[in-house]
Amino acid sequence: MAVLDQLTSQDAIALENQYGAHNYHPLPVVLSKGEGVYVWDVEGKKYYDFLSAYSAVNQGHCHPKIVGAMVEQAQKLTLTSRAFYNDMLGRYEKYASEYFGFDKLLPMNTGAEAVETAIKLCRKWAYEKKGIHENEAQIVVCENNFHGRTTTIISFSNDPIARKNFGPYTDGFIKIEYDNLEALENALENNKNVAGFLVEPIQGEAGVYVPSEGFLTKAKALCEAHDVLFIADEVQTGIARTGKLLAVDHEEVTPDVLILGKAISGGVYPVSAVLANDNIMNVIKPGNHGSTFGGNPVAAAVAMAALDVIKDEQLADNAEQLGILFREELNKYIEGSDIVRLVRGKGLLNAIVINDTEESETAWNICVALKENGLLAKPTHGNIIRFAPPLVMNREQLLDCVSIIVKTLKEFEPK
Ligand SMILES: Cc1ncc(COP(=O)(O)O)c(C=O)c1O
Repeated sequence: MAVLDQLTSQDAIALENQYGAHNYHPLPVVLSKGEGVYVWDVEGKKYYDFLSAYSAVNQGHCHPKIVGAMVEQAQKLTLTSRAFYNDMLGRYEKYASEYFGFDKLLPMNTGAEAVETAIKLCRKWAYEKKGIHENEAQIVVCENNFHGRTTTIISFSNDPIARKNFGPYTDGFIKIEYDNLEALENALENNKNVAGFLVEPIQGEAGVYVPSEGFLTKAKALCEAHDVLFIADEVQTGIARTGKLLAVDHEEVTPDVLILGKAISGGVYPVSAVLANDNIMNVIKPGNHGSTFGGNPVAAAVAMAALDVIKDEQLADNAEQLGILFREELNKYIEGSDIVRLVRGKGLLNAIVINDTEESETAWNICVALKENGLLAKPTHGNIIRFAPPLVMNREQLLDCVSIIVKTLKEFEPK
């Protein structure tokens, strides 16, 4: 079979099964086109995308302004490596630093790489600025975190599937309960070697856990009091997803280190970034860190266009308003439902908890039925389904999606 022959869904799935490593368990749908809030499968069936590539496609599929910026740049210059300067990176660094209110940006490609970068930055700052003895720095992290898949990052995960048989693990992390200020305070008081607190402002992968109001503000204050860097992983929650540009903006918290990925490129190209002020970022010197592709001209052009779109189309406000509507509408149904326990979230990062055990297949089966009914979503953990559509959705489309979701859930109500 020639690579470019028209494939059926079955063919495409069979190819992945035979020739691809089985490191994912996708829903059985094969997509070949996307536009705005919609995607189409190879047979031409149209779906609402209610995952947005794990919140990477906030600006909608194939946004013409972002794709246009990519094509234009790709025809001029794609990659120089950082061995030489290019005429796009500095512009992007200025643009994004000002956009998010930091002195400097360090460009990378994927979310996990940006988290690794933040960990290295935090450790180096701890040894060179805070005066912690070399190799003794600790970073406080939260239980049920998700920060990516590298060996260091999985070392402080407590997901057995992500960890098991990938040891030996990296030291230097203290795990505390999420949303528990007392646990944070204890960790900071009892260990003089804490350099940073790495936290997701909302735990996305874990099942969209929104911390108690005031948690982020108080956590930041505790970090300040102990000269510890507050490191916000906004790879999933950032870029307007939760109804503000950043999820920390809900509490007007400014992190010391900000980690971004996914929607910083609108899902068009792998782009991630770490932002910090000079007193922190300047510990990084030539040779300390890098990436061949990080900060390439295409990434720079794409990210600037993607961030423009967020502001031009007021996507944070749209996410805020549609998120309220979504939870209101679903709650009307949930009141009388036996199959759904609750809906939670902020902006357009939401999840429903299915009234079944974590080991049950119910959430998966609901997602398969949603697909049949024209809407694509995926369980996060066991009995939790995340709902995260592109932020370019309008009110009418959202209400249409609510009716698809409610109709589908009704099929699963106990008779
Ligand atoms: C909070 C958070 N951090 C980091 C990552 C890792 O990003 P990537 O898959 O681009 O490596 C993710 C991915 O889902 C994430 O949600």
